[in-house]
Amino acid sequence: MGDRWYSEAVVYCLDIDTYADSDGDGVGDIRGLIGRLDYLARLGVTCLWLHPIHPSPNRDDGYDVTDFYNVDPRFGTLGDFAELLHQAQNRGIRVIIDLVVNHTSDEHPWFQSARSSPDSPYRDWFVWSDTEPDDRHQGMVFPGEQKETWSYDRTAKAWFYHRFYKFQPDLNFANPQVRAEVKKIMSFWLQLGVSGFRMDAVPFIIELTEPGNPDSPKDFEFLTEMRQHVQWRRGDAVLLAEANVEPDQLPTFFGDASGSGNRIHMLFDFMLNGRLMLALARQDPESLIEALRDTPKLPVGGQWATFLRNHDEIDLSRLTTEQRNQVYAEFGPDENMRIYDRGIRRRLAPMLGNDRRRIELAYALQFSLRGTPVLRYGEEIGMGEDLSLPGREAIRTPMQWSYKPNAGFSTAEEEKLVRPVIDKGEFGYENVNVTAQRGDPKSLLAWFERMIRTLREAPEIGSGSTTHIDVAVPAGVLAHRADGPTGTMVFVHNLGTDDVEVDLSSLEPEADLPIDVLTDRGYGELGKLGAVKVSGHGYRWIRLCRGRGF
Ligand code: GLC
Repeated sequence: MGDRWYSEAVVYCLDIDTYADSDGDGVGDIRGLIGRLDYLARLGVTCLWLHPIHPSPNRDDGYDVTDFYNVDPRFGTLGDFAELLHQAQNRGIRVIIDLVVNHTSDEHPWFQSARSSPDSPYRDWFVWSDTEPDDRHQGMVFPGEQKETWSYDRTAKAWFYHRFYKFQPDLNFANPQVRAEVKKIMSFWLQLGVSGFRMDAVPFIIELTEPGNPDSPKDFEFLTEMRQHVQWRRGDAVLLAEANVEPDQLPTFFGDASGSGNRIHMLFDFMLNGRLMLALARQDPESLIEALRDTPKLPVGGQWATFLRNHDEIDLSRLTTEQRNQVYAEFGPDENMRIYDRGIRRRLAPMLGNDRRRIELAYALQFSLRGTPVLRYGEEIGMGEDLSLPGREAIRTPMQWSYKPNAGFSTAEEEKLVRPVIDKGEFGYENVNVTAQRGDPKSLLAWFERMIRTLREAPEIGSGSTTHIDVAVPAGVLAHRADGPTGTMVFVHNLGTDDVEVDLSSLEPEADLPIDVLTDRGYGELGKLGAVKVSGHGYRWIRLCRGRGF
């Protein structure tokens, strides 16, 4: 294992409220999650990312916080949370939490005070304008559901800024008190034992919003400040940021112009995500080859976090209209499957027609591409979505544990469940659940366990450098390699449907005793690299050689 734990981590994200309900009130809770840690340990997860855990009116699934220093009473107590950290640590699992400080809920006492009077000590914690800003209808994050970014507050008799929904007023990061408070919040959770934060909406946190200026200045120095603060409080803590910006802007989030990685440790690779979707839709790796080529060089310690699905829509906004339409045609043909004029609100298994070979191929690709893989709960068993639910709730249904009522998620009456369980059709819990798959060595869950175990033997993926192998290959095939001090891994993925043979003989001089470490089926002895067979939608992970390692 390399020096930095996060480079070789397997991150698993979940919402406490839809994971496991221990007290039968219909809402998942911390004790329920503690009871599932052994499951996660067996799966091979090394880091949990918990979606917002704080008290919240829940108008944006917890991303609207009313108290940053507590856990939502529906989930349990701070004591339960400390116990979770302890139990996770005992199993070698770290915990990071969502830090949602771009905004608060409008019910947060700070905002309630701020709006009540211009003299409130919290007035300047938010972003106000006495007159109607003319960029009021610009910069919305949720088109179709959000009409403006400045709204008039009758109590305050002023306009306030909200990059997201109207009930999420932005905090004013030009105010030193706000910066100090955010650092205090981080210290609090680090002191309790979290290993870092998934930082929500980072490009907007550092925006110093000016009314009437849709392109307000950004203060990247705050990221440097925050990093320093976090690292002093806990040396091995990480910041994992959501910054869905143009690729040329990404390096500034990792570090300043000196070239040192003194800001965010890890960024979600949104660019790769869009191109992965495109490659899967076209059954052609061209867009992935481009992604590997265009990836900005990261400073030492900088890392990508890869994902196929997260808790939000698949964001296709960085694809061209033609590319986006191709992905829509394949994966989101009905209007009801799309959202915000840019994305798809579905899980992966249904998008891939529940085709086991394509699901394996997609995840084998994600987990072999550079970076730290992030897996969303339920994907490991191939859960589906419920398109009858509004917006992103479609992909936020309860975890399907067993054949028992409510999928074993809760013993509450159905009407009391935080969200309905998927109980019909091919993705209903009677067909898709942990219990069934745990006992079946051929299940998707068993495959995930095996694949993640294999990753443990391939630290080059997380800590090394990944490049496209530029040799002539049959259509549909991606060949790439990961090189690190421990050696070289070679990966061949066939996105097409035809069985092919790939000529990798140019790698012979580097190979000591090449062997398959993960394949979609038994291919027999690997032998010479001149004719590597790969079935349609198949893949081979090959150890090419071992380095000296350490
Ligand atoms: C991030 C979250 C999303 C949330 C938004 C507002 O984009 O991923 O779920 O709605 O921030 O906090």
